[in-house]
Amino acid sequence: MRAISEEVDPAFRADVLKGLAEPVPAIPARWLYDRRGSELFDAITRLPSYYPTRTETALLERIVPEVAELCGRGGAVIEFGAGSQTKTPLLLAAVRPRAFVPIDISGEYLKDSAAEVDADHERVAVYPVVADFTREVVLPSEIDGLARLGFFPGSTIGNFIPRSATDLLRHFRTILGTGALLLIGMDRLKPVERLLAAYDDPEGVTAEFNLNLLHRINRELDGDVPVDAFRHEARWNDMLARIEMHLVAARDVAFSVSGRPFQFAAGQSIHSENSHKYGPRGGRLLLLAGGWTPLKEWVADNGDFAVILAEAQRERFAP
Ligand code: AVI
Repeated sequence: MRAISEEVDPAFRADVLKGLAEPVPAIPARWLYDRRGSELFDAITRLPSYYPTRTETALLERIVPEVAELCGRGGAVIEFGAGSQTKTPLLLAAVRPRAFVPIDISGEYLKDSAAEVDADHERVAVYPVVADFTREVVLPSEIDGLARLGFFPGSTIGNFIPRSATDLLRHFRTILGTGALLLIGMDRLKPVERLLAAYDDPEGVTAEFNLNLLHRINRELDGDVPVDAFRHEARWNDMLARIEMHLVAARDVAFSVSGRPFQFAAGQSIHSENSHKYGPRGGRLLLLAGGWTPLKEWVADNGDFAVILAEAQRERFAP
């Protein structure tokens, strides 16, 4: 039982109760990231089989001088999310913006990352914005008139189904305005065995990350989910070009969450995350559908990961 003073996000309860009752049970992936979940994700990024973080970081190291040439210096860098303590400094050191605006839903993360940037880059003014970047965001007036470069690394775009991903890209366009640039990381299609290894590591960290969702439900929503009756599964969905994370019941189970009863038969699963992978055409088409015209694409030598610079061009009369 939780102490009365500990607050539970009502949206978490609503999503879990609704999601578990769906014909295909699913819980939105954002609930994987409580404090423990964020720590586990951090550990995932350092695993040998999880290639995206180190590949994108090495690619950025190589390309940031060219990015700086293309976007110019002295503008404002706006980062959607504030989780990349190695990638962001690389970009800021090359682009030397006048202002840096990290946007994150967690004020705590923002404080940490903003403080670090402050220390490393004395001449960059930092204006952290605590907000859910999928909703309304008001940029600080201090960056009015500065050229804008949005930064969305990590292939986080892959965690959105394409319909929501295009909505999000359009939303970024609205936030940043016509003429802005966006530097975005996208994970590439590759042999299924490597994808499955990245999302089901032999160390079991991704399994712990996924199962933590059930622990969180028990902790925060007065649940009695028998966590040991579920196992982590990473599946490749070829038609939709995505890795799916599932929590699969190993036996018939019955449990309750916030007083609501649920039953799962052996083999039934709770779908907890999607991670879409893109080929060159698919990635660029996604950007175009979201209102961003690709200007330049850089790909890791082994083809594992791409970073694309795109522009929010003025709407033109289309033939
Ligand atoms: C945050 N996101 C880009 C990660 C990914 O690769 O889709 C989340 C993740 N889930 C399991 N491993 C990593």
